[in-house]
Amino acid sequence: MTEIISGTDSTRSPHARAHHAIRRMHRALLIAGTAAPLAPLPRPSSSLRARRAFNKPLSRASAVLGSDPSWPGLSEVEVNRARAETPAYCDDGDVAHFNSAGSSPPPKPVLDAQLEYLAVEANLGGYETAELSKRELRRPYAELATMLGCERDEIAITQSATSAWQLAFSSLERTFARGDRVLVARAEYASNYIAYLQASERTGVVVEVIPSDAYGQVDADALDATLSDASKGKCRLVSIVHVPTSSGLVNDAVAIGAVAKKHGVPYLLDACQSVGQMPVNVNEIGCDFLCGTGRKYLRGPRGIGFLYARGETVEAMNLVPAYMDLHGATWEETETYEPAEGAKRFEQYEVSFAAKVGLGAAVAYANAIGVDTGWRRTRYLAETLRVGLRDVKRVVVHDQGEVQCGIVTFTVGGVSPFDVRRRLARDGVKVWTSNVKNNTKLEHEREEGTPEVVVRASVHYFNTEEEIGRLIASAGGARLGKNPDIVTSTLRFLYSLFLLLEASTSSTRKKKD
Ligand SMILES: Cc1ncc(COP(=O)(O)O)c(C=O)c1O
Repeated sequence: MTEIISGTDSTRSPHARAHHAIRRMHRALLIAGTAAPLAPLPRPSSSLRARRAFNKPLSRASAVLGSDPSWPGLSEVEVNRARAETPAYCDDGDVAHFNSAGSSPPPKPVLDAQLEYLAVEANLGGYETAELSKRELRRPYAELATMLGCERDEIAITQSATSAWQLAFSSLERTFARGDRVLVARAEYASNYIAYLQASERTGVVVEVIPSDAYGQVDADALDATLSDASKGKCRLVSIVHVPTSSGLVNDAVAIGAVAKKHGVPYLLDACQSVGQMPVNVNEIGCDFLCGTGRKYLRGPRGIGFLYARGETVEAMNLVPAYMDLHGATWEETETYEPAEGAKRFEQYEVSFAAKVGLGAAVAYANAIGVDTGWRRTRYLAETLRVGLRDVKRVVVHDQGEVQCGIVTFTVGGVSPFDVRRRLARDGVKVWTSNVKNNTKLEHEREEGTPEVVVRASVHYFNTEEEIGRLIASAGGARLGKNPDIVTSTLRFLYSLFLLLEASTSSTRKKKD
């Protein structure tokens, strides 16, 4: 890859290093005539609450792994190791991957676990392999229980986050009656909202959107107020998305959980984009159900997801999904059936066993790195990216939220997001686009001028500052190219001259001092 940014100076703080990297990239853009003047790199957020969240104390795992204080979250060695263990970076190290909100490049242990399983399956047969692989097949339950802070039998493995969500929602739908309320987030994912509408058609339940605060996140006080108003009818469910598909927004799942608990309302959390990206603890959050997927921030396989179902709630409300199979229930007498214990009743017999084993490997990998460790680095890199993008002429960053995550969304004035994506791909930077209008319609309608489609660059702990710099430069229109062309070589030459000049000026200055 064209190295406009070269090397890293490990003596600098990460903040200074990021700033330095962006400034260097920015100079290249200035030479190309596509950059606006650069403002100083601010700290991630000026808000006290956000700062407190950002500076959360290190857990034991991260205290070990993130022992280099100059590198938030992960040490440089750890980042390099994670990249060396990622086939996508080994096979084509020049390509930067920024699509963990879509489908993240898996680490080698995840790929190996699946390939090995498939190879044995092909030789021994599917049923025999499953019988021999009990330990591997139990692994996703154990690892997810560790990650989420729950019991193994509160985890169900499903085909996707959507199917997990639908299974939970269908079990609660049985409690809905005409005029009851379901309270949801404005940033709700389309698949969930379609299910609300269908449930409303079937049962007459009223779907209400909880107001958002000035940051765009679900307003816990507004939720409390509406739940306290007895004239409004019985609320059967609070259902929110933790992190939406098309924004850096992080809803305050803990605050919502406290309100739902206070009013005794079941709480369903779509944590599809947050599990694996940031610490998610079901007891801190207080949710009754939570769904997630393999392929996104967990860096696991496609075609696999999971559901957390709180044991006490399932038992107390006797919740069962709309349909169960012979794995989720037992056909006892001709006229009777018995749901399985715990979350198993939300599972179906058939699933990709190789993907299930791969999911176990992915969650184990994330647990070993430490999700809180990765989260610190992801936030730091994402904030660096936002700051850099905001300084590029015609680029608008669209993320909302008091605490913002690794999902960075932006548009470039006068260029379609699809063309921006193509341009970035040409420069060896893989991002995706997100259709705000179709996927999170209420977010699109919140304000006139909200773009229909945005470029979505989702940052993960394995990304580097150099990649961030490359993304910013390419988004700004600097002609990087995957292979150095004459323009790039000239830029690099000019830039080296500039650096030499800068170095000799500063050493002359030092001598004088
Ligand atoms: C917020 C959110 N919820 C749910 C889903 C659906 O996940 P899956 O495709 O695994 O069903 C997505 C996928 O992008 C998502 O972003």
